Amino acid sequence: MSKPTLSVTDNRTGKSYEIPIQDGTIKAMDLRAIKTDAEDFGLMTYDPAFQNTSSCRSAITFIDGDRGILNYRGYAIDELAEHSNFLEVAYLLLEGELPNKAKNEQWAHDIKMHTYVHENMRRFINGFNYDAHPMNMLVSTVAALSSFYPDAKESGDRAQRQPEIIRLIAKMPTIAAWCYRHRRGLPLVYPDNELSYAGNFLAMVKQISEPKYQPHPILEKALDVLFILHADHEQNCSTSTMRTVGSSKADVYTAVSAACAALSGPLHGGANEEVLRMLTEIGHVKNVPAFIKEVKEGRGRLMGFGHRVYKSYDPRAKTIKKLADQVFEVTGRNPLTDIALELERIALQDDYFVSRKLYPNVDFYSGLIYDSMQFPTDMFTVLFAIPRTAGWLAQWNELADDKDQKISRPRQVYTGHERREYQVMHKRG
Ligand code: ACO
Repeated sequence: MSKPTLSVTDNRTGKSYEIPIQDGTIKAMDLRAIKTDAEDFGLMTYDPAFQNTSSCRSAITFIDGDRGILNYRGYAIDELAEHSNFLEVAYLLLEGELPNKAKNEQWAHDIKMHTYVHENMRRFINGFNYDAHPMNMLVSTVAALSSFYPDAKESGDRAQRQPEIIRLIAKMPTIAAWCYRHRRGLPLVYPDNELSYAGNFLAMVKQISEPKYQPHPILEKALDVLFILHADHEQNCSTSTMRTVGSSKADVYTAVSAACAALSGPLHGGANEEVLRMLTEIGHVKNVPAFIKEVKEGRGRLMGFGHRVYKSYDPRAKTIKKLADQVFEVTGRNPLTDIALELERIALQDDYFVSRKLYPNVDFYSGLIYDSMQFPTDMFTVLFAIPRTAGWLAQWNELADDKDQKISRPRQVYTGHERREYQVMHKRG
């Protein structure tokens, strides 16, 4: 008869143990009972990069990497992208349910009431060098926000956490746009709360001398959909960082800043920037086979391909590809598209990529859209951080309410010296 347990025999001692299985996992702490003798610390698992370790129970985002499924709170990503707007999706991630009309209006109103940032932030941003990377500016500026909200250190219950959540979702576009404007030497533009979340961001980025900036509706919608697609992705590198920093009860601004730092790496959110660099370097469709050959020989990676979790087509990449066509109708076709399509065509039939289950991920086409919307390459990861803030905050909220959680603190397998005798300086070789 089937039993939800795992029987383990420790061949060092001949002892057998029965470990409960719940939700397809065993508790790592149950292994601690497996000891050679009373002095033994007990068995641990060794899992660099947490490739097979669940660090939490979460009801927010579901991914089935083999079947290419991504759901937020049970809703398929493509349906949300088609029917909802970003703020509704942020509410869904945070509250667990889609808002009704009244709740949606209240939520959008609350966010709009917090889009302005303290004037000292302008001075702070103006202090960066003229060529500072916008992502570096974002990381530091979000951390600096914590100094304006000392109450954020008391993030005990849900009601206390809510103002911080609203502030962060509301202020991220303002800070992101100001990082962009500073980099370009342009005056910083204040939020326009009559516009949508995505529309206001576009206005703060693009407005020059028009008394009122009206974003193009297709580009505004495209950015909103991109925000939805990037809003959460369960326990990825930056979300795990958010949870790790949050677990020490650091304030939420510091934790979001740390998550932004994790996102900035080229193997994570920084990949969209790298994709565009790669396409630009390839330069022409005729150079694609030579580039693929280099990748297969281990000289570089095909950026925007492969994913730790998706081992089939990334469902977000499908929606983005469609979106790209709509954006190109307005902006004109991005000349790098042909190179991207050729890379995808060759890679999808090449045994190197097929056997390793490497498919385009969310970053492969998003960079082309941002580029066509005339965002500079170094803004791409910032554009990712804005919506991902909603996901980070939903995960932080869940962490705070989870009675199983403690300060995050992995173990190690120590491989250094045994205790050895101290050598005074003149005796060292
Ligand atoms: N190009 C070429 N080869 C690749 C690529 C790639 N993009 N990705 C993985 N491989 C190869 C590896 O060389 C390795 O080959 P081997 O078995 O012969 O050694 C094999 O595929 C497995 O690769 P890992 O690095 O072990 O896979 P992992 O799951 O750790 O990495 C990652 C996932 C980091 C996303 C990787 O696929 C990658 O570097 N992709 C390019 C960067 C990128 O697009 N990142 C964005 C991810 S989406 C996001 O974070 C928002």
